[in-house]
Amino acid sequence: MRLGVPREREPGERRVAATPDTVKKLVKLGFEVSVEQGAGLGARYADADYAAAGATLVDGATVWATAEVLLKVRPPMADEVDRVQAGATLISFMYPGDNPELIARLAAREVTVLGMDQVPRISRAQKLDALSSMANIAGYKAVVLAANHFGGFFTGQITAAGKVPPAKVLVIGAGVAGLAAIGAAKGMGAIVRAFDTREAAREQVQSMGGEFLSVDVVEDGDGAGGYAKVMSPAYIKAEMDLFAEQAKDVDIVITTALIPGRPAPKLWEIRAVEAMKPGSIVVDLAAERGGNCELTVPGELVEHNGVKIIGYTDLPSRLATTASTLYGNNLVHLLKDMGGAAEWRVDLDDVVVRGCLVTHQGEVTWPPPKLVDPSPPRPKAAAVPAVTKAPAPPARSKGPLGAIVGAALALAWLGARFGLEGRADPGTALFVEQLTVFSLAVFVGWQVVWSVTAALHTPLMSVTNAISGIIIVGGMLQLRGSMSGVALAIATVAVLLATINIAGGFLVTQRMLKMFRRDAG
Ligand code: NAI
Repeated sequence: MRLGVPREREPGERRVAATPDTVKKLVKLGFEVSVEQGAGLGARYADADYAAAGATLVDGATVWATAEVLLKVRPPMADEVDRVQAGATLISFMYPGDNPELIARLAAREVTVLGMDQVPRISRAQKLDALSSMANIAGYKAVVLAANHFGGFFTGQITAAGKVPPAKVLVIGAGVAGLAAIGAAKGMGAIVRAFDTREAAREQVQSMGGEFLSVDVVEDGDGAGGYAKVMSPAYIKAEMDLFAEQAKDVDIVITTALIPGRPAPKLWEIRAVEAMKPGSIVVDLAAERGGNCELTVPGELVEHNGVKIIGYTDLPSRLATTASTLYGNNLVHLLKDMGGAAEWRVDLDDVVVRGCLVTHQGEVTWPPPKLVDPSPPRPKAAAVPAVTKAPAPPARSKGPLGAIVGAALALAWLGARFGLEGRADPGTALFVEQLTVFSLAVFVGWQVVWSVTAALHTPLMSVTNAISGIIIVGGMLQLRGSMSGVALAIATVAVLLATINIAGGFLVTQRMLKMFRRDAG
């Protein structure tokens, strides 16, 4: 099966849909890969490296004319639609809502189109979530751009020549891009604050070292599938007032607020820009959707009262090497899920493939049927304090139920321990005691695991390994000496499961560490 990677012809686009490294993976999946000459130059990948990875270098006409599967970054340009082979599959960012005409033409040519901007935000699809890959890069690059235009340090310094205060950064919208911006700004030493309408973002911001700001209107912006919903006018007004206050204090604002399928909400008003100190910077990542700042000009850097407002819409392309690597990997994961060359199929029962599918067999298949949200319900918003400077500690308590059950179990144990002493036969007393200890252990385990946010379950693994260690010791103590068949069975199962948990935990940790390790070669 021939797979083609054309050069991106959109002005200013430096990314490419495959790198020499991903070409190797595609070849392993059984594809014959053709790459257009010069396709990788914008991302610093030479033709020779593609050839060494197993690709055939061809000219532009050939790549379009021969490919059964085409991999692109940007949607095809108008003249490129006629160059796709009828019946071929085209995979790229498509933005079908903005490109109905293009989609209709591709459907008419019986081209199967998969939009990488349409990957559903579910756990299983994270590895091919190209929007998140790009938003992560955009968030990082926004901070680098801001640092470049800002006239000071990010980190505070005390030198012999004098004291320099740290820069203050405000991030609006703590989704993928916002969290990446918080991480980058924090890493450079700035004081970072963030605001998001989703209460679930509070812990994520705090875990990145940012201070979560809030307003005194109680309303949670959590919509379906991890996206935000539209907030009430009262909430938006309170938010704007908060920003007008913050504007006097912060040096850099990075705005990323977005609700899918809608124009970007206008959150940073002219009054906020005018309240900022001269030399301050606004980076508006939502520029492509009209911008979160009232003065943003998409694609441009403008200046108002000494404040620079950056509305570039091509930030991932400005980090083309990394962007191409991540996007190329997202594509490899999708092609793998679709069976590789040997078992290639467009499986309409696969929610991820169906979610991405824009046209198929001459029909426009977008929008896909609504996906039932498989993510666990997020914690509901607690009463949100008035505009805060100091972040409130995250609410972890699940109410008094846990404490009541725990106390009842402890009392039952005490009752069984001392009530049965001398009255029941030793075997029964021992069994009741063991059963109570077992129930208490189950209760403690439930409290430990349930009280932790799903996002933190990975670090929790080390805690569960420690707990498993205690279970093994407890189980082994129970296994010694004479005991009833039931207790023996429970202790054996406990030792076995805890051992599996520990060994599995180490294996997963090893896998994760491998992901972060640089290649020796
Ligand atoms: P996301 O959906 O993960 O995050 C958006 C966040 O905005 C959500 O957390 C949401 O709760 C929050 N939000 C919505 N309404 C809000 C409000 N009124 N106040 C505060 N927060 C609010 O989106 P992601 O992937 O992080 O992308 C963010 C933006 O970056 C998007 O506009 C995207 O198009 C843009 N982007 C820009 C690029 C560029 O080159 N300029 C490149 C990649 C992404």
